[in-house]
Amino acid sequence: MEVERVQAIAILSKFMDTIPAEFIRSETEQPAITTVRGEVLEVPVIDLLGNEEEVVAAVATAGAEWGLFQVVNHGIPEEVIGNLQSVGKEFFELPPEEKEVYAKPKEGKSMEGYGTKLQKEVEGKKGWVDHLFHKVWPPSAINYQFWPKNPPSYREANEAYTEKLRAVADKLFKWLSLGLGLDGHEVKAAVGGDDLEYMMKINYYPPCPRPDLALGVVAHTDMSTLTLLVPNEVPGLQVFKDDHWYDVKYIPNALIVHIGDQIEILSNGKYKAVLHRSTVSKDTTRMSWPVFLEPPPEHELGPIPKLIGDKNPPKYKTKKYKDYVYCKLNKLPQ
Ligand code: SIN
Ligand code: FE2
Repeated sequence: MEVERVQAIAILSKFMDTIPAEFIRSETEQPAITTVRGEVLEVPVIDLLGNEEEVVAAVATAGAEWGLFQVVNHGIPEEVIGNLQSVGKEFFELPPEEKEVYAKPKEGKSMEGYGTKLQKEVEGKKGWVDHLFHKVWPPSAINYQFWPKNPPSYREANEAYTEKLRAVADKLFKWLSLGLGLDGHEVKAAVGGDDLEYMMKINYYPPCPRPDLALGVVAHTDMSTLTLLVPNEVPGLQVFKDDHWYDVKYIPNALIVHIGDQIEILSNGKYKAVLHRSTVSKDTTRMSWPVFLEPPPEHELGPIPKLIGDKNPPKYKTKKYKDYVYCKLNKLPQ
């Protein structure tokens, strides 16, 4: 096998108390040293069955102060989430050669496929995680070659989840729009309307003998508009707020909403893209299913004109989403 999957490294590391040096983070990043413990702040949890005015206010406050919140009573049935999780887990438990069929093509421009490393990190460090990416919406953007054929119900489970997720996304865009003092439809229109693309990612974090020293995904903000994520029951997501790293509590069946860079930009900084990272576990496999809601590549996005004026000059450039992505992935100025 050409690429070393973390899942294979984890099997070799199982009976040892060490991990390869490239997984050991610097002291400024090691979770054991940098996470706040004890009585700590908790990210907002918003009940979507509440009064709509209160939901709008809660979403707007959480989006401005944390850039991340959990939502409950979101209308996605437990069974639909459970099926999405089972088929993803079954895929990652297939033998390596069956997963490699879906490996990300080497020269491909897209993120889609089974893979291990997203971007070059400083000092060549690696995250303790493998992943699978594939678009799930709109139909014209889907490349089924990256959707596992095994288990056979993979497609049905992903389609059922996506359909329910779209309804939640539309509500969130409306509430974020109202929270900016705009009409309900304006934020969704600004991110590409019905051409918005839904990119599914599965993160697979195998057990790690030294979870105190390693990270799954290193600190970052998402490039997307919003990211809607369901985790499995193993905690690991952390958010950065007021100079500290906090654990995000696991709430069964909640959906975790991340404000991404594009919502920060269109709101001209009122909403904040959340800086987050993930930790790993000693004895259990953590998994998470983020869906990145992304503008189409050619779509131009910048601060919404109604939000800027003499007193509020634009804080961000207006540019095509594909150019934003290129600069971010190559660590170039925006
Ligand atoms: C990520 O931000 O890519 C990972 C988040 C998670 O696994 O909870
Ligand atoms: Fe992320």
